[in-house]
Order: sequence, then C-alpha cells, then structure tokens
Amino acid sequence: MSVTVKSASEIALMREAGRLLEIVHDELANMIRPGISTLDIDREGERLIRSFGCIPNFLNYNGYPASICVSVNDEVVHGIPKKKRILQEGDIVSLDAGLIYKGWHSDAARTYGVGRISPEAQKLIDVTKECFFRGIEFARAGHHLHEISAAIGSYAESFGYGVVRDMVGHGIGTALHEDPQIPNFAQKRRGIRLVPGMTLAIEPMIDAGTWEVEWLDDDWTVVTADGSLSAHYENTVLITDGDPEILTLSK
Ligand code: MF3
Ligand code: CO
Repeated sequence: MSVTVKSASEIALMREAGRLLEIVHDELANMIRPGISTLDIDREGERLIRSFGCIPNFLNYNGYPASICVSVNDEVVHGIPKKKRILQEGDIVSLDAGLIYKGWHSDAARTYGVGRISPEAQKLIDVTKECFFRGIEFARAGHHLHEISAAIGSYAESFGYGVVRDMVGHGIGTALHEDPQIPNFAQKRRGIRLVPGMTLAIEPMIDAGTWEVEWLDDDWTVVTADGSLSAHYENTVLITDGDPEILTLSK
C-alpha cells in the first residue's frame, strides 16, 4: 500500500474523529485511581465511543478482544483489560484508544500515574510525552520521515531509556494502519518525504530499561524483557503547509 494524502473534506472527518477521541481520553483520565479495574476503563471507553455513534477500531482487530488497550507498569502495549486487574497506588498505566467516525480512524495513547508514583516513573512518563513533541517538530512538509524517528529516539536515549523496536507508529486514515511505518529510533533510510494532507499516528513506546520486549501467553500483551516500566504516548497528526496539526490534542 502507498501513503495516502487526504483531501480537505477527508481531513474534516479525521479532525472530528480526533476531536471525539480526545474527549474519550479526557473522560478516561478522570477514572484513573487505585481500586478500579482495567476492564472498568475498557467498558467506559467503549460506551463513550459508541455514544458518539462511532466504532471502537481496536475491538476485534486481528482478534484483539477489547476497545481500549490498558497496559500497566512493565506492560508496553496491548494489555488486555481484565476485571481482576485492579490498579494500585504507584502503578503507571497506558491507555491506547481509537475510534472510527464516518469511516475515518483516529488513534491516541496516554500514560498516567495511579495515585502517587515514584519520581523515576513520572520522569519516564514525561520524557515519553516529550519524545512525541520532539518528533513532531519534523512532521512538516518537505521533511523526511527519518527526522521524526531520529528526534524521538535520540531524546529517549539521552536519558538512557530503551526505545521499543518491535512496534512502530503508522499512517492512518480509512484504515487504522496505513503506510508508512514510523519507527521511534534512527533509520538508515531517510524514508518518505512528507506532504500536506498526510495523517500519521506517531507513538513513542519507551522503556526505563532496555528496548527488548516479550509477548505474554495471551499473544497480545507486550512486556519489557527486563521487567522495567514502559510508557506510551501517541497522537494522530496532520501534515500541513505549516505547523503540524495534532488531531487528537487541542489543549
Ligand atoms: N495504537 C495501537 C496501534 O496503533 C493500537 C492497535 S492494537 C489493537 O497499533 F490490536 F488493539 F488494535
Ligand atoms: Co497507533
């Protein structure tokens, strides 16, 4: 598949898909506290998405059994929500959510602390978010994809963190995953040249320890191989003539 460039009317629909997903994230953020289950978050997320007349794009994607990926502590991504997985004070939790609005996808992830967390955990969360912002400095027409990857990776590595290699960001549009793939670490090839109308899900996944990951027996949950904490931050981004427009973040 090749990289798609969206028209003005398609961008308007993606903007709405992004705006609604931001509301979902904001609502879910308010739920985060010790004592709730990861399934509670998924249930509320799915309810909200459907309340907007949208479809949860993760549900049944390659057999994924939920609407929101909820990944705790050493879980990197794709944690499966469970009634018995209760958030505890001091945990960090990543929520990855997406929806389809009139055929157009949005995708975004956030990582939160549960109650009081360690300074080390907070730093990992903050640096992962900053990685995204370092990356989108290069999400501009005329720049090449590798500039985003390198900016994210070098910032994370400057803290000694591990940059996850097995999963990457991606184009997004009428499918959740479109070309191009967007690694979060320096590339040998410069990658595609960005043009206005491209929409990209840029999503650093950063480990406090090394980059190696493993899959749990559920075939979904990705965990750090060394048991270290991992954080995730993602937005759906539009390439424009000027500054990138973050479709899933307005404030
Ligand atoms: N944000 C993730 C991604 O871009 C979520 C999809 S995983 C799913 O790949 F399988 F649960 F859908
Ligand atoms: Co994504």
